[in-house]
Amino acid sequence: MNHALREQARGRGEYHDPVGERALREAVSRYLAFNRAVLAPWQQIFVTQGAQQALDLLARVTVRHGDVIAVEDPGYPPPRMLFAATGAQVVPVPVDAQGIVVDALPPDARMVYVTPSHQFPLGMPMEMERRLALLAWAQRHGALIVEDDYDGEFRFEGRPMESLKSLDKADVVAYVGTFSKTIFPELRIGYVVPPAELTAALRQAKQAIDWHSCTMTQAALARFMHDGDFARHLRRMHKVYAARRNALLAHLHGGLAAWLRPLPSAAGIHLVALLRPGLAEDDLIARANAASVGLYGISGMYAGQATQAGLLFGYGGIEVSEIHLGLQRLAEVLEGWHL
Ligand SMILES: Cc1ncc(COP(=O)(O)O)c(C=O)c1O
Repeated sequence: MNHALREQARGRGEYHDPVGERALREAVSRYLAFNRAVLAPWQQIFVTQGAQQALDLLARVTVRHGDVIAVEDPGYPPPRMLFAATGAQVVPVPVDAQGIVVDALPPDARMVYVTPSHQFPLGMPMEMERRLALLAWAQRHGALIVEDDYDGEFRFEGRPMESLKSLDKADVVAYVGTFSKTIFPELRIGYVVPPAELTAALRQAKQAIDWHSCTMTQAALARFMHDGDFARHLRRMHKVYAARRNALLAHLHGGLAAWLRPLPSAAGIHLVALLRPGLAEDDLIARANAASVGLYGISGMYAGQATQAGLLFGYGGIEVSEIHLGLQRLAEVLEGWHL
């Protein structure tokens, strides 16, 4: 940041390219090719204020008032709220163990928002067959697929799945990424690799909304990536998160197994455990809270009535020692609760 500030101080003070600093776009282009098999020249990388602004821009340029946007259910609530605020009709579509149920998509959807690497919140990746079915569906219906690849960098088991974007022959996928999980959300830097036909409209929308994102943080991040520090950071954090995930799973498969059933989740920095029948989410959260253990339920991630009860355990910001402490205390709460 100091370096970026000094560089900036030498300039005259002027507006820059709405879709981002070239150095950062080049760094992201290399990163995506190497790590995510998304092949996009730097000119196709558009820098945004986090993934959330990428979603906002995409909705603005593809959807008119009353148009249908399909979202996963359960799913990440902020896009749902955002899409509704743009005047779109947001239609929740169920997910099963393979990912979004393509057969349940509303035929008139203009846009489908999905999290294929690590479904939010349940955690499973979208199966290959489902990916291909979704791509074929979007092509048939002239819809845009928005692939939110928010935390696929951290993978702990198995082979990485091909991104939708890398399978996309018909140019129907907008690939969205963010530095909120790999670095921190305060940075507010994300990006989108849109289909070619949307590039002009997106550039215009970004300029109309905020002219461009902060150039100093972009310059600092570009340098961080160019110097190899980002790659080192990812390797270091991978080890840290793996240790936290192992600690969490040891409790879920151990002392908590009578009450909680973790869902398979090979990537990302959170996982979900479903509650055994008879346990009410609200009740459990309130009892744990009284014992100073903060828990997040999954029912709020459903657009309507939740069909499953569970807890979401994020391990991006908690030390292993705190995981042990919190989950031991949770086990005591459950043991003392006469069901
Ligand atoms: C599904 C999903 N997408 C995107 C993000 C990050 O959004 P942003 O880049 O706007 O911080 C998150 C953060 O929790 C998320 O869970």
